[in-house]
Amino acid sequence: MGGDVSPDAAVLGRLLRGRRSIRDFEPRAVPPALLRELLDEARHAPSWSNTQPYRLGIATGPLRDRLARELPRRYDEARRLQRAGALTRLRAVLTRRGLPDFDFDPRTQYPPELLAARRRCGFGLYARLGIAREDRAARERQMRRNYEFFGAPCAVFVFVHAALGPYAALDAGFFLQSLALAAHARGLGSCVQGALALFAGPLKREFAVPEGWKLLCGVALGWPSADPVNGYDPGRADVDALLLPASA
Ligand SMILES: Cc1cc2nc3c(=O)[nH]c(=O)nc-3n(C[C@H](O)[C@H](O)[C@H](O)COP(=O)(O)O)c2cc1C
Repeated sequence: MGGDVSPDAAVLGRLLRGRRSIRDFEPRAVPPALLRELLDEARHAPSWSNTQPYRLGIATGPLRDRLARELPRRYDEARRLQRAGALTRLRAVLTRRGLPDFDFDPRTQYPPELLAARRRCGFGLYARLGIAREDRAARERQMRRNYEFFGAPCAVFVFVHAALGPYAALDAGFFLQSLALAAHARGLGSCVQGALALFAGPLKREFAVPEGWKLLCGVALGWPSADPVNGYDPGRADVDALLLPASA
């Protein structure tokens, strides 16, 4: 194709193609110096006017454990409310208790042209986990694992400045890909988790989040376990499928 590939390009290509989302981790901690090294590399990501409009809440040790108890509790509570009668739900809305308290709602309504890919990805993951499509309880248990960071010893919560609108999220995306690749290059695994945007309250109690900064997502980070779920590769659309045809 493009002739000789430079060693740098070969390494980068391997890392780009080989990174996968990791959804089961070993409990062993990520050494603080290693975590620092990853962040130090990822901060070189580009951002609009070099503003780096993201701030990170890092949860390890007892803080991580506290959140890995509180967030699943919030998830269970929200699920219970979802199934409760209209009156209980109304009371929850009025008292603002038990419901998700996101800054950005991660429960996106997918448009028809994206829905098929979403379903393929979800069902592929469940198949990998040996979960039958109709087994709602097992699917829910897997969803719940998001809130325990899939067992990762480190969770990174990403806040962006709301004033920059979508560009702050774009900048955070560059940062996250850099972080994911820096981690992958060292044998660590990560999973960006939109699910972790659902409950902002517990995070705002644990971290001093300045006015105007909103919870965008979380990232589980740690050493991948040998669980087969970590081999799940949902594949990608071909380049051609990403290209717009010329207008007629
Ligand atoms: C913004 C964003 C949010 C995501 N949220 C979740 C999540 O909440 N739970 C999860 O298991 N995976 C989540 N993922 C991982 C995606 O499912 C994954 O990146 C995609 O299926 C491609 O697979 P790969 O990362 O293994 O290549 C998220 C990824 C991104 C970029």
